[in-house]
Amino acid sequence: MKRIIIFASGSGSNAENIIKYFKTTKTAIVTHVLSNNEHAKVFERCKQLKTKCLHFTKIQFSQTNEIINMLKKEADYIILAGFLWKVPSKITDAFPNKIINIHPALLPKYGGKGMYGMNVHKAIKENKEVETGITIHFVNEKYDDGAIIFQEKTSISADDSPEMIAKKVHKLEYVHFPNIIEKVILENE
Ligand code: GAR
Repeated sequence: MKRIIIFASGSGSNAENIIKYFKTTKTAIVTHVLSNNEHAKVFERCKQLKTKCLHFTKIQFSQTNEIINMLKKEADYIILAGFLWKVPSKITDAFPNKIINIHPALLPKYGGKGMYGMNVHKAIKENKEVETGITIHFVNEKYDDGAIIFQEKTSISADDSPEMIAKKVHKLEYVHFPNIIEKVILENE
């Protein structure tokens, strides 16, 4: 059974969905969630699910070996589920094709620094896009740049608000993200 560590910065609804999914399979288990935001709602969700959730600082993440040493010891796969910091190259180098991110748009459009969460959906609305979607991809040392594993589209109506677009995107995330993670793990066996 592979060990997954999830990184999340905010609400953590994807983290919750992934934790629940892997409680029902023998492929992997989510052992911890790590968050850079000690006030994030993901802590409450983890408490309910009895999954360990730990806070870490930028210094621990980027300037010391604390986090990378823990990951090397305790993780086979790292999942970014609404995680907003760039992953330092010492971590991406140590986990080639083992770090997977979900992005709430069809990359390479609407990616890069500052393009996260509602910022993405607002930009999509402003540009009057007729479709959006999700991108699940491997993580390298640049924002939203690693090889794409999976994309799925959803259509947007002219009267959809950014919040409605976010809802449609989240729906796709919940359906596909855990399955794609499991598929990657099984294909690596
Ligand atoms: C998700 O929509 C995810 O795709 C997005 O943040 C949201 C987190 O929601 N990630 C990014 O924008 C990364 N660039 P959640 O905290 O409820 O899972």
